[in-house]
Amino acid sequence: MYLGVDYYPEHWEIDMIDEDIKGMKNMGVNIVRIGEFAWHLMEKKEGEFDFSFFDMVIEKLKSQDIQVMFGTPTATFPAWLVKKHPSILSKDENLQSRVFGGRRQYCYNSEVYKEYSSKIVTKLIHHYRDEKAIISWQIDNEFGHEGSDMCFCENCQEKFQMFLSEKYKDIEEINKVYGTIFWGQTYNDFSEIPTPLKTITTHNPSLQLDWARFKSHSLNNFSKEQIKLVRGLKGGHQTITTNVAGGFFNKWFDHEENVKDLDFVSYDNYPVWGGLKEPLPRAEIAMNLDFIRGLQDKNFWIVEQLMGAQGHTVIGYLPRPNQAKMWSYQAFAHGCTNMLYFRWRGMTRGAEQFCFGILDHDNRCGRKYNEVKSFIDEISDNEEVFDSEIKSEIAVLYDYDNIWSWKFQPQSIGFDFNKELMRLYTPFYNLNTNIDVIPAARDFTKYKILLIPALQIIDRELGSRLESFADQGGVIVFTFRAGIKDKSNNINFKEIIPCSVRTMAGIEISEIESLQPGQEVDIVGQGPFKGRIGKCEVWRDLILATDAKTLYKYNDKIYGNKACITVNKDGDGEVYYIGGGINIDIIQEIAEDIVV
Ligand code: GAL
Repeated sequence: MYLGVDYYPEHWEIDMIDEDIKGMKNMGVNIVRIGEFAWHLMEKKEGEFDFSFFDMVIEKLKSQDIQVMFGTPTATFPAWLVKKHPSILSKDENLQSRVFGGRRQYCYNSEVYKEYSSKIVTKLIHHYRDEKAIISWQIDNEFGHEGSDMCFCENCQEKFQMFLSEKYKDIEEINKVYGTIFWGQTYNDFSEIPTPLKTITTHNPSLQLDWARFKSHSLNNFSKEQIKLVRGLKGGHQTITTNVAGGFFNKWFDHEENVKDLDFVSYDNYPVWGGLKEPLPRAEIAMNLDFIRGLQDKNFWIVEQLMGAQGHTVIGYLPRPNQAKMWSYQAFAHGCTNMLYFRWRGMTRGAEQFCFGILDHDNRCGRKYNEVKSFIDEISDNEEVFDSEIKSEIAVLYDYDNIWSWKFQPQSIGFDFNKELMRLYTPFYNLNTNIDVIPAARDFTKYKILLIPALQIIDRELGSRLESFADQGGVIVFTFRAGIKDKSNNINFKEIIPCSVRTMAGIEISEIESLQPGQEVDIVGQGPFKGRIGKCEVWRDLILATDAKTLYKYNDKIYGNKACITVNKDGDGEVYYIGGGINIDIIQEIAEDIVV
């Protein structure tokens, strides 16, 4: 089991390194991650490669039997590179170029950036391929984080048009699928197609979804090329990973695709960041870990585990004594097998002065040091337990096309996909169940219960897989807007909502209402839930229960005859449909019925 810290020896006086490593060793550390932002240190001038600083650091670590994860440095490029090639910079939706400073400002479609990245990475791996102490390579740092997955530059526009022409072949086809007859947007040629920059009102929804897919493809292309490069050069004893940042459902890339070629997934676990006055609810921290485990359907590493308060310009909640240690245990309980803490010591200069580490700026081994030390002591004895596979009978299904589709058209100002997912996940989490969070395209036949929040894009193929899942005894819980759209982000025609899942749900929906922030409607329990009352926010589907049983109805004069929550026996299974943003207490009782 590897337990360690993220260390930036280049930030400090050289004569502090021995002392630092002694402190780490004393804490029980057996791995250190280094290098991921140090391109300039390794290539001060173009073509002049020098790894002597890290050679020295690695020798010192080796003398204490500490191993190394080395980060390829492409997340922060040197100033000389952008001076020579400003075209590597990404542009925002106002076509404003991001400037040097900050980090991750490169465009994934820049051939120049790819060339320079390949050069430094090739030299680096070549230099260290036989270094026994380096046991793993981390590719880049947090792909797509902090808005870096979105670039609208001219190069991206040209590649987007190529992407579309490869996908649709014929301009008439794209006109048909997008429905460009609407607002007279018909194209004669792929070169006329815009990127969805700022315009008056909104772009075509199919175009927007293709744009999101293209962005995802661009990022994943870059990362896959990097992984392939490292794989071809590295030593046989070295593995490859990348560190996935939180906030998955706000990102513009498909995470499963991103990690496909890695040996294992790594995660950066920050239960509190920036100006939050409280940490994320424990269910949400757990869901994030389950999402990470779900990416390759196997256990994972954490290469940045929070110890102190964090933030670039503002900070918030201070993790209480032993709280960060508790979060470490929670991570291991959800499939983490190896853990590195961010970071050894807080930095006095640069953008992360307020990202506190194990040691603070006073450089004393205090409360946090002792906490990590005690954690390392305790956890090391239980390696076998934590290496074992986690088996779940419940899965949450998500799909990036669907998430992006919601981003472009939230339909209600109050809609937030993460919130809707947590509304379903939390009640099952509260029952102490193991839950996998997986893409909807994955084979889900091994599960007993599927939780499907706000999946508005459901094609025939997925519809029929869900149907047979229920037929064979599975339980499915859908929430509102299920199945209203097709893969092109268009609304299904001549179909009754919830379209391809309507028969299994045993319902029909002909009217809907978007509820605005602060607006709630009352719902009342029926049958087994008689006497219960609850609230519905964000959205409401006005359901006619054709075959299904009504569990809750709306409690208002006009729509009091319409159901809000239903359940239908379908084959040997059961299909629940929750027509709005219902308060968790109500869903909790339903979850208890399902799980028992
Ligand atoms: C992570 C990032 C680190 C550091 C840290 C600060 O997202 O990978 O480089 O910025 O946040 O909390």
